[in-house]
Amino acid sequence: MGARVQIVEMGPRDGLQNEKVSVSVEARIAFVEALVAAGLTTCEVGAFVSPKAIPQMVGSDQVLRAAGDLDGEFHVLVPNEKGYEAAIAAGAKVVSVFASASEGFSRANINCSIAESIERFKPVLARARADGVKVRGYVSCVLGCPFDGEVKPSAVAEVAKTLSDLGCYEISLGDTIGVGTPAKARAMLRAVGGDVPPAKLAMHFHDTYGQALANLYAGMEEGVFVIDSAAGGLGGCPYAPGATGNVATEDVVYMLEGMGIATGVDMDKLLAATNRMSALLGRPPVSRVASALNAKRAKATKA
Ligand code: HMG
Ligand code: MG
Repeated sequence: MGARVQIVEMGPRDGLQNEKVSVSVEARIAFVEALVAAGLTTCEVGAFVSPKAIPQMVGSDQVLRAAGDLDGEFHVLVPNEKGYEAAIAAGAKVVSVFASASEGFSRANINCSIAESIERFKPVLARARADGVKVRGYVSCVLGCPFDGEVKPSAVAEVAKTLSDLGCYEISLGDTIGVGTPAKARAMLRAVGGDVPPAKLAMHFHDTYGQALANLYAGMEEGVFVIDSAAGGLGGCPYAPGATGNVATEDVVYMLEGMGIATGVDMDKLLAATNRMSALLGRPPVSRVASALNAKRAKATKA
């Protein structure tokens, strides 16, 4: 467990895609800049999806262009060739396709079956290969689906293997509605790990039921060391009823540093970035660590 862990910051994309308050492009760019300055240099900054489906991600081209001036690796979601073309025009060097392990969520999220989504991704992956663009692959609903309920680890493994065989350099496994528990997460990762090496896997766990850190710990014991998280625990998917945000980056950083694993993240700067975004959204961060540190500071200021 002494290995270096890589954090992929999700705040500007997964975090903001479900917010009711509209956040300006300028504020989204400032958020990305602050996160990178805090050491979160691998960051998903937007999505080239239908503006009718996710209006919050309109302007992702401007956010990605601005991120291009920073030192880091910036990811964006693309559901199809149209999205890929727009992403490339804005300078994307890493794009992420997103599939589901369950049919119900695939239909709700991207309006097609799992098999149809794979067919849509094939030309994206072929073009990306020719363009020298890296492609990350998501599999959603790996520990349960809001529409279909139980999801078998073998179903997750099948989609993960397909994306890996198509050329995705990494497969990020999404507990989209945060229902997993450690034993289930472990079993799922073992099933997927039989087809895709754990070194190519990432854990993308939402924290709806407060299990994400425990699930991540179980996953690290299985040899998975890439973690998706969102500053402040922002977010959720609009097509996953009841889902709350990704595990909070502050909580992940606190756990890892406590285990002696260096993250390279400056907690003070991260907290400042989270607090600025929380102020814009008009509510305190859901991150336990951010809340604890904010409370401690407020007390110290009063004293
Ligand atoms: P569709 O309606 O089946 O697509 O939507 P279509 O090809 O029939 O096109 C319909 C309209 O969308 C057309 O415009 C297209 O031009 C436009 P119209 O003629 O009506 O004006 N369109 C696009 N516009 C911009 N960019 C594009 C694009 N493609 C088509 N790329 C589609 C299919 C996938 C486009 C739609 O369902 C969609 O955009 N869905 C968005 C889903 C989404 O972003 N969900 C949240 C992210 S996924 C997530 O959060 C899970 C994750 O975090 C992992 C986890 O937690 O599990 C990744
Ligand atoms: Mg997600």
